[in-house]
Amino acid sequence: MARIFSGIQPSGELHIGNYLGAVKNWVALQGTAESFFCIVDYHAIVVAYDPALLRQRRRDMALGLLAAGLDPDRCTVFVQSDVPEHTELAWIFNTVTPVGELERQTQFKDKAQKQESVSAGLLNYPILQAADILLYLADRVPVGDDQLQHLELSRVIARRWNAQFSSDGDYFPEPQPLLTPTRRIMGLDGQAKMSKSMGNTIGLLESPEEIWAKLRPAVTDPKRIKRTDPGTPEVCNIYHLHKAFSAADTVTHVATQCTTAGWGCVDCKRVLADSIETELVPIRARAESLRREPGRIDDALATAARRCRDIAQETMRVVRDRMGFA
Ligand code: TRP
Repeated sequence: MARIFSGIQPSGELHIGNYLGAVKNWVALQGTAESFFCIVDYHAIVVAYDPALLRQRRRDMALGLLAAGLDPDRCTVFVQSDVPEHTELAWIFNTVTPVGELERQTQFKDKAQKQESVSAGLLNYPILQAADILLYLADRVPVGDDQLQHLELSRVIARRWNAQFSSDGDYFPEPQPLLTPTRRIMGLDGQAKMSKSMGNTIGLLESPEEIWAKLRPAVTDPKRIKRTDPGTPEVCNIYHLHKAFSAADTVTHVATQCTTAGWGCVDCKRVLADSIETELVPIRARAESLRREPGRIDDALATAARRCRDIAQETMRVVRDRMGFA
């Protein structure tokens, strides 16, 4: 049976960019194969961070993922640092990874530029990602296109380890991407990808009032200055959000009202707010029930960690054996 693995950084509360770009797809995939979704807290520490905040964010992310619809009975939602084998396998993979490949990663180059001092952890980040996936012998990895290069490197690592230590057949599969159907979600500023650090997000668990306060001033078609100017939906971020949240006939209607100046941008945003609300109501309800019974989150994570450790220990038993440690 195919195994699915994906990971998300504990960056705090989930926002609609994370949701549309990853988590909604995970919810659709759970149950189609044995699925593992990992809160990658060891990845989160490769740049400067606050330990108290990390503790909080790990919990917030777990709550967000369960509220979004990941069901512990149909998939395994767990915390990376609960399974020490991730870092053990990452060390092993360090020894088969060419430094040149790491230095060529565009995410590394982007992030390194923004740091005063670059840690080896930032450089080696994709090695830990390869270990995450391969520890479970996962062969399918739902990701956005920004992760394709990391995934390619995971395949290089699997191939290299197999070539050196798995002469009787390929122990590690070469994981393939399952591209997320939704294109990248831009922030409410219409300038940059939606991300917490840019402050241009809508949180998945925000109230309708909070959402409207952000949506109302959000950037639309920059050429539409007066209410009577016809707009161009394709260049408008609000229109792209409609495509993600609104029913197909609503999307068509929105486009017509925009190009004929039938609606102003605020009218269009009100309809979007309704569509977002429809999607978020059940998510908010699940979050509230989890907040009332936080023990359910702890139980789910503990059960998941046990299941993961069983698999991880078996993989490491084979790896150690092949590599001359046992
Ligand atoms: N690097 C991924 C991101 O930033 C997160 C991640 C860590 C991941 N380990 C993974 C994704 C394994 C897929 C598979 O989005």
